[in-house]
Amino acid sequence: MKEHSAGRTDGELEDIEVELFVRALQARHGYDFSQYAPASLKRRVQQLVHAHGTGTISALTGRLLHEADFLTTVLEGLSVPVSEMFRDPEVFSALREQVLPLLASYPQINIWQAGCAHGQEVYSLAILLEEAGLYERTQIYATDFNPAALRHAQEGIYPAREAQLWSRNYLAAGGSHTLADYYSARYELLKLDSRLRRNVIFANHNLVTDEVFCEAHLVLCRNVLIYFSDPLQDRTLGLFRDSLVRGGFLCLGTRESLDFAPAAADFVPVDAGLRIYRLGAKAPRAG
Ligand SMILES: C[S@@+](CC[C@H](N)C(=O)[O-])C[C@H]1O[C@@H](n2cnc3c(N)ncnc32)[C@H](O)[C@@H]1O
Repeated sequence: MKEHSAGRTDGELEDIEVELFVRALQARHGYDFSQYAPASLKRRVQQLVHAHGTGTISALTGRLLHEADFLTTVLEGLSVPVSEMFRDPEVFSALREQVLPLLASYPQINIWQAGCAHGQEVYSLAILLEEAGLYERTQIYATDFNPAALRHAQEGIYPAREAQLWSRNYLAAGGSHTLADYYSARYELLKLDSRLRRNVIFANHNLVTDEVFCEAHLVLCRNVLIYFSDPLQDRTLGLFRDSLVRGGFLCLGTRESLDFAPAAADFVPVDAGLRIYRLGAKAPRAG
């Protein structure tokens, strides 16, 4: 490891560069990444350096400051919009069996799917609701802070090579048809049936800076909190709690948890292993 003047190692210099990059991103474009988990953020910034051959993080920062279009590329790189349909099928199976029957008692169901990436999870939910006979009275708000990901989600077009895995997931999640009933395939692409998004509103929402915007019966936010520092996770979980009706459900990613968060006291586990919780008595808000 090289040591520089003032005793800084390469790694420490890179940490300073990441900090300046994050500041530039906020000052130039208004996106605040200062509370993301540092190690994974640094890794993704380094991947951007590698992918764009800028050599250093400082040079990447230069492009971010001076090339307006570069923001889209940076957001795509930092936000990891990776997903799949019926990802972790056992979670969808539990939603089908343990959550939807209880949601069925509401005349109108609102679902907030935060961090929807390219939309695979939204379409999976829509199929689940359709098969439970609940979709007609459901409104899904699918949000993300990455505008390119939201556009992709809205189109619902994916590489056809995904079909095999997604079909297997769908059946493992208790699907009662075949997944092919919900898409048309052409050449190398598959297009999900546009009817699946008839009750979906895709909207830009940033979990770092934006507030609650709907009263939800289910909040699904999977594989997003893992990128956040503990204080930002706490803020986000607080948003979800404030958004849910009493008795509403929260579903997190299998590597995420409510444990240790201040909001945990307000929830009871429905299936702790699958990260499905239910809001009990709502604590009065401070202030
Ligand atoms: C790994 S994907 C998760 C996709 C999907 N929920 C799943 O589990 O398959 C993470 C998503 O979170 C979004 N995201 C990250 N930070 C966010 C923020 N501050 N506000 C809203 N969305 C965010 C990213 O843009 C990305 O689409």
